[in-house]
Amino acid sequence: MAKHFLHISDYSKEELLDILHLAKELKIKFRNREDYTPFKNCSLAMIFAKPSARTRVSFETGFEWMGGSALFLGPNDIGIGKREAIKDISRLFSRYNDMIMARLFDHKHILELAQYSSIPVINGLTDYNHPCQIMADIFSIWESKNRIDDLKICYVGDGNNIVHSWLNLASKISIKFVCICPEDYTPEEQTVELARKGGCSEIEISHDPHTAVQNADVVYTDVWASMGQKEEVEEREKLFKDFQVNEKLMESAGKETLFMHCLPAERGREVTDEVIESDTSIVFSQAENRLHIQNSIMATLAGKG
Ligand code: CP
Ligand code: NVA
Repeated sequence: MAKHFLHISDYSKEELLDILHLAKELKIKFRNREDYTPFKNCSLAMIFAKPSARTRVSFETGFEWMGGSALFLGPNDIGIGKREAIKDISRLFSRYNDMIMARLFDHKHILELAQYSSIPVINGLTDYNHPCQIMADIFSIWESKNRIDDLKICYVGDGNNIVHSWLNLASKISIKFVCICPEDYTPEEQTVELARKGGCSEIEISHDPHTAVQNADVVYTDVWASMGQKEEVEEREKLFKDFQVNEKLMESAGKETLFMHCLPAERGREVTDEVIESDTSIVFSQAENRLHIQNSIMATLAGKG
């Protein structure tokens, strides 16, 4: 078992399934507000270099339900890597806290934070990946479809951090993953290779949304310009216009196809209101499941599952 939760691909299929099964148990306990306090007298330091709604609220709510206390440190609080070296923050927090969750820009920074930390570090999103999100997503698909293997998951949009985490997952769990994106916005080649080398999944990169989504179990999208790229919104709006998830695209996919989005959504850009509000949209289950899967990840890392 890895000491930190930085990439889904650091875990074996069995370990990932254990996290999913524990999340299922914890979801029932949380919904019933049962006592489950493995983190009594413990604290979680949450470092945010970027904004957040879901990640902050789900980690804070989850850790406090599990008996601990969570500290929110926003972009202007500790100045990680600016006011103070990352490796110094790691060693400092290792003495105060029991776990760190961090949302940072540069992926190298979370690797460094973990390298010098003697307590578990959880990746709450970097420019490279977003592992807690995709664990919540596969959990949500499992709930809706009653299976996780051999699903056709079509991601439509920018080949970004969400795609890298899907590819990390595909290196361990058997899926057919299709990334449908403009030619200049493909995911990182090394990560595509990692997914293919895992040997259990089929990976396709396509630039033709209507053909590629046919018979999809899931159509997934995310914003066209991620945090840190918002000055490119207008330029990307033109380049990505044929990659919008609208009712026509969902019809090409199939009647039973689930719609997913990590949120926040820019309605009218990557997805229309009709699709996000449709009966096959599970976006709020995904968001809810962030809490349960993260509780499971934290309990697992602390050996308290
Ligand atoms: N999906 C997600 O991580 O949302 P936030 O950016 O609001 O945390
Ligand atoms: N790709 C998006 C995901 C937000 C949860 C971003 O990085 O901004």
